[in-house]
Amino acid sequence: MSFRRVLLLGAVGVVGAGSLLLGPTSAFAQAGGSSGAAPVGSHTDSLRDLGAKVGLRVGTAVNPAELTSSTYSSLIANQFSVVTPENEMKWEVVEPAQGQHNWGPADKLVAFAQAHHQLVRGHTLLWQNQLPTWLTDGVANGSISNTQLRALLKKHIQDEVSHFKGKIWQWDVANEAFTNPWDPEWSGTPAPGHFWVNHLGASILADAFKWAHEADPKALLFYNDYAIENVNAKSTAVLNWVKQLRAQGVPIDGIGFQTHLDTQYGVPTDFTQDMQRFGDAGLKTAVTEADVRTFTEPNSVNTPTDTNAVAVQNAAWKQSIDTCLAVRSCISFTAWGVSDDQSWVPTTFANPQEGAALLYDSNLQPKSEYFTVQHELATTEAAHRTGIGAGRS
Ligand code: XIL
Repeated sequence: MSFRRVLLLGAVGVVGAGSLLLGPTSAFAQAGGSSGAAPVGSHTDSLRDLGAKVGLRVGTAVNPAELTSSTYSSLIANQFSVVTPENEMKWEVVEPAQGQHNWGPADKLVAFAQAHHQLVRGHTLLWQNQLPTWLTDGVANGSISNTQLRALLKKHIQDEVSHFKGKIWQWDVANEAFTNPWDPEWSGTPAPGHFWVNHLGASILADAFKWAHEADPKALLFYNDYAIENVNAKSTAVLNWVKQLRAQGVPIDGIGFQTHLDTQYGVPTDFTQDMQRFGDAGLKTAVTEADVRTFTEPNSVNTPTDTNAVAVQNAAWKQSIDTCLAVRSCISFTAWGVSDDQSWVPTTFANPQEGAALLYDSNLQPKSEYFTVQHELATTEAAHRTGIGAGRS
């Protein structure tokens, strides 16, 4: 980041401070001595306070086990107004042995969120990944029939949504049910090749939304997917599918745009036009898992191999937050984790090594990408979101 940019952002910080308080005063400001000018790069203009100006919730995925670190937990409390458990509401975690529930880690995050006036995105009820092995083994060896599988899914959704009833703002009911246009099995419909659709037919997705709605009628119910951040074959297929379901009365309220971006594929240029199509169809929208990965030096999750990559990463974060601000139906903007080293990217995209995908470095210091998002939130004129904090009407 250039010195000039630091100065500019410092000025924004001073102008924006004051009337925007939603959460507790920044621990960073307290630690740094809050009287007088804020130190360069300070957190006094938190993302959550800036988002609150237009009713936008700004969030992060959280690993609840790490909340014991006071640096991590105060950063999350101060910067974010909505949290998503990164893994702790997935089926393999909440029911590791059949009939034995493990709600503890997710309960801990929900309690943390309530204590810090944050909302919670529930993630995720129907997905083909991170299923418990008792379930996938049972299906593979034939001891669980399709009829039983359907009953097990229904019970899972009812149990989980009931357990958290009244505490979840948005549920990602179904996750990644479409394949991709570049896959051989692409069909433009919820996917052949998808575990649930293969076994139970595409109507299982509608059933999942109905079961979730019955268990918590006030929660906003989302379909969540990736590679839909442009006007493209997949986003168009998702839009047509969701419109059709809504016309049949299926309770789907919104679409989550995961927004896992990568500098090698460039910045999504028509993201705003794309998301607006969903808003125009009466859907709420959200950026649910934002990160922008790039190639990094081996063994260094923070150091891009190409120094020009940082400019592209900043442009991608700018485009993502600008899209969410420009489209009034966009009610939350969530990064998929806090710091580069904790991100899923280095382990998932390891050959060749990618990383540097988030807003904070491994020392929990804000990166230039953080200041880009902060700057856009502070300076962009945007319409106030409605229904924030409230469930479905
Ligand atoms: C990822 C988590 O970040 C990892 O910790 C875990 O090992 C695998 O899942 N799309 C999703 C998320 O919807 O649930 C995934 O999260 C990332 C891709």
